[in-house]
Amino acid sequence: MELLKVEAIKKQFKEIKAVDGISFHVQEGEVLGLLGPNGAGKSTTISMISTLLRPDAGDIYYRGKSIVKSPKGIKNELGFIPQEIALYPTLSGMENLQFWGKAYGLRGKELKERIQKVSQIIGIDKRLKDKVEKYSGGMKRRLNIGVALLHQPKIVIMDEPTVGIDPQSRKHILETVKALNKQGMTVIYTSHYMEEVEYLCSRICIMDYGKIIAEGTKEQLTDMIDEKKQVTIKVDQQSQEVIDALNSNQEVDKVEHKEDQIILTVKKHNEALKNIIDCFTHTPSNILSIDIKEPNLEAVFLHLTGRALRD
Ligand SMILES: Nc1ncnc2c1ncn2[C@@H]1O[C@H](COP(=O)(O)OP(=O)(O)OP(=O)(O)O)[C@@H](O)[C@H]1O
Ligand SMILES: [Mg+2]
Repeated sequence: MELLKVEAIKKQFKEIKAVDGISFHVQEGEVLGLLGPNGAGKSTTISMISTLLRPDAGDIYYRGKSIVKSPKGIKNELGFIPQEIALYPTLSGMENLQFWGKAYGLRGKELKERIQKVSQIIGIDKRLKDKVEKYSGGMKRRLNIGVALLHQPKIVIMDEPTVGIDPQSRKHILETVKALNKQGMTVIYTSHYMEEVEYLCSRICIMDYGKIIAEGTKEQLTDMIDEKKQVTIKVDQQSQEVIDALNSNQEVDKVEHKEDQIILTVKKHNEALKNIIDCFTHTPSNILSIDIKEPNLEAVFLHLTGRALRD
């Protein structure tokens, strides 16, 4: 089911077109990735979905109803984790959870149970008595995620939750997103880290200069570009027969060989690999191992914009 639909939204700050006519949808239960470099318009887009900003044009529908006209429609079902940490530094982790829980209308036993559940999810139960100002960046992020989960939202929006934190917290956050999604949570995950988006997201919108320049699964996006696979084959011995066979193979664009390796540039077809392996029959060369490098989202972005995703 389509949970969220964003239709031709725009937002301009003076002369800057931060979001310039963006449309996409989010299916219930999926993790949608918004991938784009600094200034692409990711935060502005999700601020409008979170009803913190009002679009200049276009509309956003949650469960078929406009949340631009009526922000109430999404408020209780949305957990928003902003790029900037929104916590009270002089309060403890526990006091922050209590404060925000009450702000969501939770009280008494229910509040206590939700705090307990959320602390388990974010994995900082042992440090909840400490003041937040004593937390590492990663712990603050995790608490910030906890705050957004207190009222059991149906959809969670995360704005670059892993920027500038330790590897352990980063791993924990990625696994938390996976686990939440497995339990049915719908997620919009914003990042400029290609690997995270590839790992988490069922579908990806690539953004640049306020526009979505490509959209699809990782496979669909990498299929768009004419990028080739690189296949490295380790052999027990080289032979002219196999080099000749590979050179005359339709799927292979380039053949190089050195020492015990044959390095091929191959068209991105599924059948290509079988064809290549067939080239080895009736030759003295035997395959010891095969390593395949697939084109990635970085290559897609480079192809579409002429720039690298990370400067
Ligand atoms: N409140 C604002 N006032 C003026 N300009 C803004 C404001 N918010 C964003 N912008 C501008 O709009 C553009 C898009 O910004 P936005 O924060 O949405 O990008 P982003 O993709 O989230 O980038 P980052 O990866 O750096 O967080 C940028 O050029 C930014 O400077
Ligand atoms: Mg941002």
